[in-house]
Amino acid sequence: MATHTEQLTRPAVRLRGLTRSFDRRTVLDGIDLDIPAGQFVALLGHSGSGKSTLLRAIAGLDHQVTGSGRLTAPERISVVFQDSRLLPWRRVLDNVLLGTDGEEKGRAALEEVGLGGRERAWPSELSGGEAQRAALARSLVREPELLLADEPFGALDALTRIKMYALLRELWERHRPSVLLVTHDVDEAIVLADRVLVLEEGRIGLDLAIDRDAGADARGEYRSRLLAALGVTEDLR
Ligand SMILES: Nc1ncnc2c1ncn2[C@@H]1O[C@H](COP(=O)(O)OP(=O)(O)O)[C@@H](O)[C@H]1O
Ligand SMILES: [Mg+2]
Repeated sequence: MATHTEQLTRPAVRLRGLTRSFDRRTVLDGIDLDIPAGQFVALLGHSGSGKSTLLRAIAGLDHQVTGSGRLTAPERISVVFQDSRLLPWRRVLDNVLLGTDGEEKGRAALEEVGLGGRERAWPSELSGGEAQRAALARSLVREPELLLADEPFGALDALTRIKMYALLRELWERHRPSVLLVTHDVDEAIVLADRVLVLEEGRIGLDLAIDRDAGADARGEYRSRLLAALGVTEDLR
């Protein structure tokens, strides 16, 4: 059995030389990455840079892709996408419980995401934000060691998104899964994560630790560095 210290230091995700290609085109080009257990990581990159490909590889969902390298990931992984992917013919609680038992846990998860009382609603009766809350509840019920989220707030309006940031961070603090959040939004990454990666030409071009207690100046500095890594000049924004 692993000692306590080993458990604390063992990374949840370990990638070595991870390469993935579609046809002949290399999208991920020898990625090395360790994500410690319980770390909240954001992954930034231009559209088409391979963020979803990397997430799917870690989730074990990339069967059409050819690749090489070593990949270690936890057994219990939950994935959240931009679209809630709720089944329209099942009520909210049944969607949350899909493939698991333990109704009480499902109810508790809905309560945690602020959907207590909506157990019997149909997905079509939920707003976009509520549907994403339900998707988060569904991921929580599985008590994931790793939460993979692919632009989960991309389709939400700005105000709803801000509320979801607070909710996600709160859920993370309570349950402490490792998180890999894919986003193309620099500010979202800085607000949410403890570490921000920039995917660039198939590799991790920047790996930036975020000090959560940093003041406005340091946050401005993070922002500039991330935008520079993405090739965006601030005066063009
Ligand atoms: N199923 C697929 N078949 C062929 N090419 C794909 C497929 N999925 C993604 N790609 C290509 O791989 C590259 C990376 O895609 P993706 O990981 O979805 O980027 P991102 O999520 O960063 O926008 C893109 O050029 C995309 O066209
Ligand atoms: Mg994508």
